[in-house]
Amino acid sequence: MKILLIAGARPNFMKVAPLLRECDRRKEVRAVFVHTGQHYDEGLSDVFFRDLSIRLPDHALRVGSGSHAQQTAEIMRRLEPVCQTEKPDSVLVVGDVNSTMAAALVAAKLGIPVAHVEAGLRSYDRTMPEEINRVVTDAIASWHFTTEPSANENLRREGVPDSSIHFVGNVMIDTLLVCLERAAISPILDDLELRNGSVEVKPYGLVTLHRPSNVDEPSRLRGLIDALGRISQTFPLIFPVHPRTSAGLERLGWASGHSHLRVLKPLGYLDFLQLMRHARLVITDSGGIQEETTILRVPCLTMRENTERPITITCGWNRLVGTDPEALVSSCMEELARGERAGQQPPLWDGKASQRILDTLTGVTGYEQLATAFPLDTTLSGKKD
Ligand code: UD1
Repeated sequence: MKILLIAGARPNFMKVAPLLRECDRRKEVRAVFVHTGQHYDEGLSDVFFRDLSIRLPDHALRVGSGSHAQQTAEIMRRLEPVCQTEKPDSVLVVGDVNSTMAAALVAAKLGIPVAHVEAGLRSYDRTMPEEINRVVTDAIASWHFTTEPSANENLRREGVPDSSIHFVGNVMIDTLLVCLERAAISPILDDLELRNGSVEVKPYGLVTLHRPSNVDEPSRLRGLIDALGRISQTFPLIFPVHPRTSAGLERLGWASGHSHLRVLKPLGYLDFLQLMRHARLVITDSGGIQEETTILRVPCLTMRENTERPITITCGWNRLVGTDPEALVSSCMEELARGERAGQQPPLWDGKASQRILDTLTGVTGYEQLATAFPLDTTLSGKKD
């Protein structure tokens, strides 16, 4: 069985890493790995290949940046001949970036079945480019691998048959659990002088910010960056800055030297994981970080009005604080004044999602068996840590 695996942007790499490993472990599977090149920098791409020991791609499409239409079209144009030459039995796409949707469209039009990992998540906000990518990809996928019960319900509402919905857990958590030990030896805490003596870590917050809705509009970005600057006067904040956000800050003429924020370049996976694990709290507008903080039991404040990952809220680790600067400052102070949290953990985020996905694709575990083992309507009620 030949499977074409697609990755293109930073949040894809931690999702394909365990899937590639699982494919390579199985004699009956041949994985052909394609990197679209949507992200191409050392900081957004290369470092993840090293940190996660991902093998070199079989095909590097090198599409680079562009408008959504240009980027999507370029991926499609360059991927089509690869699919025609490789003739895979299925194309496996992860997440919700432009590369995900572009690859799904190419495969579906060539009659190659598409497997979507992280299917069914919905913010119900069509101003997010990722929401369009999710809806389109799910509409044409043949296998929908889901991470949480809300995704199963969303897909059912959209008419996806139960037989193609597979609740398997979260491949991004497969990677996180495998990497914890290696992240623990990252020197980042010492490099940033975040330790008192050799063991105790000083309290600090970790910030990421890159959603177009937050960083492309100057007045919104100005409000958020000023609020983060105010918080950092009393509580140290570490802020690795995404290139989209750097560009927005440059347009504003914002100079990091005038703020208490500790501004860094984008970090690699292991350094970021180590910082996230030891943070007192995380402030973010990312999708994946809401999930990673849930597993790490670190409180997360999400600078968005909605989330496609509601389980992170019902588990008790994530809170939507919106994008009003005053609300952000007061929510942060409230969180810092709170004591220890007691939260839950999502079902099946146990490090075995990739195994379940490959079992399903290769027919080792049929859908019926999976459904019995992990009922689709699994809820958190009654589940304890
Ligand atoms: C993309 C994804 C988003 C994901 C994010 C993580 C889509 C629609 N969006 O958004 O879901 O959360 O990646 O990073 O697919 N750039 C660089 N170096 C690179 C890549 C990009 O400097 O290696 C620059 C581009 O020139 C552009 C900006 O960063 O100006 C944004 O890149 P782009 O891929 O368009 O979208 P992201 O905002 O990164």
